[in-house]
Amino acid sequence: MKEQLEKIKQEALAALGAAKESVDLEALRVKYLGKKGELTAVLKQMGKLSAEERPVIGQLANEVRERLTAEIETQKKKLEEAKLEARLEAEALDVTIPGKKTALGHQHPMYIALEEIKDIFVGMGFTVLDGPEVELAYYNFDRLNAEEGHPSRDWSDTFYFDKDSRVMLRSQTSPMQVHAMETMELPIRIVAPGRVYRKDEVDATHSPMFHQVEGMVIDKNITMADLKGTLNTVVEQLYGKGTKTRFRPHHFPFTEPSCEMDVQCHKCGGVGCPTCKGEGWIELLGAGMIHPKVLEMSGIDPEVYSGWAFGMGLERTAMRRFKIADLRLIFENDVRFLEQF
Ligand code: DAH
Repeated sequence: MKEQLEKIKQEALAALGAAKESVDLEALRVKYLGKKGELTAVLKQMGKLSAEERPVIGQLANEVRERLTAEIETQKKKLEEAKLEARLEAEALDVTIPGKKTALGHQHPMYIALEEIKDIFVGMGFTVLDGPEVELAYYNFDRLNAEEGHPSRDWSDTFYFDKDSRVMLRSQTSPMQVHAMETMELPIRIVAPGRVYRKDEVDATHSPMFHQVEGMVIDKNITMADLKGTLNTVVEQLYGKGTKTRFRPHHFPFTEPSCEMDVQCHKCGGVGCPTCKGEGWIELLGAGMIHPKVLEMSGIDPEVYSGWAFGMGLERTAMRRFKIADLRLIFENDVRFLEQF
């Protein structure tokens, strides 16, 4: 039996030394020290021994058990350390290597201007609306008091989808006024930015696609003074305190009275220069008091309610805001241009 125990010990030590994973160690523990293990098997035969031999073998068996248990622990620690070492090696991070610079883009200058405009209006309690670029002529024209025969309805002016001129690319954001009147509760305060389309040739101030920001207020006792006050505040916030505006009479079918608003030229301060074509002023938007017929068509009583509206050219606003001389730069997306903002 002594030899048997000695053999088990030698074999087990060799096997433990060769183990590569802690699961192997566990398997060996079961194999040698487990309930059905080899050492236990030997101990079960102790009954056959003489009374003198029993304690000797018993002690020896205990020693083997302790030795193997200790060895398993030692091996386990060793394997764990090796594993950690390997992991640290694999995950080593060299903090001295220079970092890679991530190129971060930024918003297009026109959208920077739009965000500023939206912020100003939201700050004054306006809601920002989004609406369709493909529009019914009914909303783009009829409901805005521009009846059949109005020059802006001409084929050479407008992109139509069908030969009956019913579906079109909106030529202005003004149909959003009608959508707001149809869907919102009074009083209404909205701005509606978006793309508009016209059959224009591209040049320094024209493009067949451009952006407008529509604005509208309808409530009781709204007057032209509210329109002027609001727009002056917006212009001062956009372009700086003391920026001068000028309101000129104009005609739009859906406003009465109508006007256009100019801003004093940022280049020459009003004296006249190439940027303002010698005028001293740059036109920024059309506006006016909403025509009673337009209110009536949307079921709003013009005897009780009144309102104002404006349509602002977004490219033009951005051009003034960032002192951009040519409209085409806004659409060409040359990064050398865009990186300047
Ligand atoms: N929709 C007009 C245009 O594109 C601009 C405009 C003028 C909008 C007067 C308005 C307004 O809301 O009241 O030329």
